[in-house]
Amino acid sequence: MSLTVRAPAKINLHLSVGSPRPDGFHPLVTVYHAVSLYDDVTASDASAWSATTTGADDVQVDGVPEGEDNIVVRAGRLLAQRHGLSRRAAVQTYKSIPVAGGMAGGSADAAAVLVALDRLWDVRTPDDQLLALASRLGSDVPFALLGGTALGTGRGEIVEPWEDNGSWWWVVVPSTQGLSTPEVYRHWDTLFPDAPAQPAPAHRLVGALKTGEPLRLAAALHNDLQVAAVDLRPELGVLIERGEAAGALRGMVSGSGPTCVFLCAGRDEASEVASVLSEEHAVVLAAHGPVAGAHVLPDGIETTE
Ligand code: C5P
Repeated sequence: MSLTVRAPAKINLHLSVGSPRPDGFHPLVTVYHAVSLYDDVTASDASAWSATTTGADDVQVDGVPEGEDNIVVRAGRLLAQRHGLSRRAAVQTYKSIPVAGGMAGGSADAAAVLVALDRLWDVRTPDDQLLALASRLGSDVPFALLGGTALGTGRGEIVEPWEDNGSWWWVVVPSTQGLSTPEVYRHWDTLFPDAPAQPAPAHRLVGALKTGEPLRLAAALHNDLQVAAVDLRPELGVLIERGEAAGALRGMVSGSGPTCVFLCAGRDEASEVASVLSEEHAVVLAAHGPVAGAHVLPDGIETTE
């Protein structure tokens, strides 16, 4: 039997960072938002673990590790261990989420594997335990299970759904060259050696998300890491200005970057902004949010005798 699970990319509507904790991670207050760019992960019973990755034309999968080093195998092993199973699986990932773009594509794949194998093995892991396993795999894996719009605290792994009455349109511009998350955090540390221990709260977003009004959301978007990402990659600042000049209500770096996202007034405005930015950027995508977290595709279940 094989099962296909779809998991979404995330952007951060708010990301504030505190000074590093003793374990090296930074305390965060973030508001995650799942958008309509997805990876599809197919898991099948097999005698050995394996991971293969293919992708949409504009997604560079070369950097994604094959086999044991891939996060999907770590996710599968963790679930097997949790249930005392010696089962293994072959995992095939079809990526539409930009790789190393700050959109949590690897985290989406890990969440998808947890959901797929939980179902394939019929082990029915309770939600809180699945979230706990997810947090061991990465700070934003729990959110990929949840989807929608959610507050993230701790190092980002403690998630709580948030009311979001909007249907927001985004233009997403991945960079051809990835930017390492630890490098961006390290650079932020050097820029802000006296940062407060506690990250700033996301009060302004609460009201904006309730109204569903794009202008209100545009004014409330915030990313502490943007200054570090733009300092490392000044061309991201130029891109943000171009997108805003082309009609986006607000442009910003997504998470630790280098992908930039642009909030638009609606679907037509997003098409317009996307068409202007695609004159200079090879990959420009339009997406809406919020969308669901990792879920089994109804026509993605195959049984073979
Ligand atoms: O948890 P995840 O694997 O996504 O984190 C990748 C890296 O990003 C960490 O090793 C750390 O360097 C940095 N990070 C951090 N603080 C966080 C989340 C990530 O410093 N809250």
